[in-house]
Formats: sequence, C-alpha cells, structure tokens
Amino acid sequence: MPCFAASRAILDRNRRHIPGGMFSLNRETDPILVFEKGEGAYLWDADGNRFIDYHAAFGPYLLGHNAEEINRAVEQSFHAKASLFGANTTTQEGRLSELMCNVIPFADSVQILNTGSEATYQAIRLARAFTSRDHILVMQGGYNGWHNDVACNVMTPLSEIGPRVSPGEYPVVPLGAGVPEAHRALIHVVNFNDIESIEYVCQKYPIAAILTEPILQNIGIVKPLPGYLPALRKVADKYGCVLIFDEVKTGFRHAIGGYSAISGVFPDIAVYGKALANGYPIAAVAGRAELMDLFAHPDPKRRVFLAGTYNGHPVPVAAAIATIEYLLNSEAKVYERLEQLGRTLELGFESIRKEAGIPLTLVRQGSAFCIYFMDHAPIDWHDIAQNHDFAADTAMRRSLLECGIFPFPLATKQWSISTAHTEKMIRETVDALASVILRQPTLR
Ligand SMILES: Cc1ncc(COP(=O)(O)O)c(C=O)c1O
Repeated sequence: MPCFAASRAILDRNRRHIPGGMFSLNRETDPILVFEKGEGAYLWDADGNRFIDYHAAFGPYLLGHNAEEINRAVEQSFHAKASLFGANTTTQEGRLSELMCNVIPFADSVQILNTGSEATYQAIRLARAFTSRDHILVMQGGYNGWHNDVACNVMTPLSEIGPRVSPGEYPVVPLGAGVPEAHRALIHVVNFNDIESIEYVCQKYPIAAILTEPILQNIGIVKPLPGYLPALRKVADKYGCVLIFDEVKTGFRHAIGGYSAISGVFPDIAVYGKALANGYPIAAVAGRAELMDLFAHPDPKRRVFLAGTYNGHPVPVAAAIATIEYLLNSEAKVYERLEQLGRTLELGFESIRKEAGIPLTLVRQGSAFCIYFMDHAPIDWHDIAQNHDFAADTAMRRSLLECGIFPFPLATKQWSISTAHTEKMIRETVDALASVILRQPTLR
C-alpha cells in the first residue's frame, strides 16, 4: 500500500482555514490524495507516488496536463502584455467566437464565461426570456452545475425518489441546503431515455427548457438509446421549449463539434467548458441567433443580463484558441488516436470480463468510459442504482491506486483518456485491472 501520510497532513493543516479543507468539496477522496504535479498523463502526489491519471480533473484534460502547445499560447499572451481591460472587447474574443461558430454546427454566436455552472445559468435565463415561461426539465443522474435551478438529483438514493415511474416525474432532491422551496417548484426531474415522461412533463407545466447532457457523464457513461435524441428534439419543438444540450463534458472531448455533431441532433443552445481550453477556466454558451441575440436586445426589458469581471480573461481565451486550433490542425489524428487508445483498453478489458465470472460491462464513448459491475450498459440512474455493485466498483478503484492508477475513487465516476496516454500505459492499466478484478476475492 503506498503511503499517503503527507497528503493527509496537508489536508489536516488546510482544514484550519478552509471549511472541509479544500476549495471544491466534491473533490474529497478516500483515501486522501493531495497532488503536487501533473504532466501529460501522470500525476504525482505529496508523498512522491506517481499515478497514471484517468480522472483528468473531472474531464478537461483531453491533451494531458500542462500540454506544451497550450501552455506556450498562454506564455505568449503574457509576453504580449495581454491583460484584463474590462472595457469593450478584444481581437482574441472575436477569434475565439469565430472558431467556435465554425466548428459547432448550429451555433450562430457564442458568449464566453468562466465555468460550466455560469453557462447553464445563462442558458436557462435565455430560455426563460425567450419563452416567457419559468419551468425547467432536467434529468435524474445529470449534473449541470451548482446553482439553484440544477443542483439536484444526481446520484440520488432510490429511497428518496422512489421506484421508476413512467410517465411521471421524481421529487426534486437538492444536492445541499439553501435552495429555496419556491425555486424547487420550477424544476422537474425525469429519467434520461424516457421520452414518455418528458412529454408528460411538457404537457403538464409551462416548460421553458429541456436541459440535458447528450450523454450522461456524471454517473459514468449513459448513452442515449437509438432515436432518443431526435425524439427529444421533436418534443421540444412540439411544446415550444428550448432544447439545451449541456456539452460541458461531451464538447470537444468526443468531437470538435461536440456530441451534437456526432448525433446530428442540434439543440437551440449548448454550453461548453472543460476540454474547450484543456484545463484552463473557461465556458461558453453557443446557439441560434434568435435566442443568443436576446443578450443584446435593443429593448432593455427583453434583454438578458450578462456580465462578468473575468469573462474573456486573456489567459483562458488564449488557451481555448490554442486548443481549438490544435484540434483543427490535427483533428483526425487526435480523435483517431483517442479512439485507438480507448479500443485497446476495451479489448483488454473484454478478456478480463470473460474470465471474471461476475457481471461486468465497460461502456465507452471515444476517450471516456466507465466500468459497471452489472450485466448490461445502463439506460438511466434507476438502472444503475438497482443493478450496479457500488461496493465492488469503489473497492476496484481503491485497489488500483495501489497499482499507480488513478480513477476518481468514487463509484460510477467517469474515466477519461488523453492524447498524452500511450499504448504502454493503457496495457499497464489493463494488467492492473486484471490483477485487481481477477485476483481479489472481495470483487468476485
Ligand atoms: C455536464 C456538466 N455540466 C456543468 C458542469 C458545471 O461546470 P463547472 O464545474 O465548471 O461549473 C459540470 C461539472 O462537472 C458538468 O459535468
């Protein structure tokens, strides 16, 4: 077992001045690991342990940690004395929005923010202003940020939401305290892949927006069933709701145009973040002009308020431009390479699965995957909650830490591959998975 004593000591010290000891409380792991260095696909912790990283900081690192091409662009922005001016616009803002509109098939324009949560907040505001309705439909098992409209119902115990209902909706269960009751009344939660429930809610309430990740990637990888996304588009049109795709995790990771480009189903608005700038803090709202123009509507009563001291900060903007240009210049190679690495892992895992004698399913979309201890690919959160062996998943992840492999040690969290991973690292990972799954009686 590697030693994590220095990590533990740092957290204990930080707890003196930080509630919970860290700046984003969903980052806590068991055991505690405090990382000090990230390069390519490797992370080093405070005790000097080295890990092959599959967490990618919850997804942004498509090109690996401290990718040279991106850091170089950031350094150049310092040399050019770029700064935050807080007046009007910059050439770089124009360049970034043009690049994004060129690669996102349905986007007429974009606005840049700092985080995915800000982006979903503004997308919802646009939808409410556009439709003059207040209600929002979100997915059980989806995560769309920390604000009041969306901070609910991710890995909710079935004891709190009850058994599957279709058509129907689930109680709103906030992720924490402080969300006003009145606010909750505007939110409706249904299962992903359940078009009957979506239609049921749209009939019953004045829904401004249907907000969904096109693949649920905060409970592993839950893919849309064939026909589901086109049906969602049809229901949104039928009831006059705005369709918002939350591509914060899927965007730029699965294709440069996001999962909308892969599925061919275009939302009215989509939000991006994470892989857009390979780890630098930036997010975007992109969409059809009819909606986006509300940000600059001549009538102040119809105008949607958008402001932010740090919006368009030159450092993340330089990183985002460099990331998109890199992906464009080597688009086929990046996504082909990620697919190849993913396939190697999947094939290696297939032999483990056959030998294991327990239900196991690896679900993968390109460079993102999840291993479920169940006999089929899940279709929604109820499916996972009822069939996945959470204890075995957690035990597997903890044992992998001992082999120098770092998936986030919490059941059902997504694994991410970057272009900095190599075939050798993937083979090492498959060997570690074999030793953990096939040789540990607790997992079988
Ligand atoms: C799909 C999705 N949307 C939105 C967010 C919120 O993004 P941020 O943490 O940058 O506010 C996340 C974060 O994990 C996410 O996974």
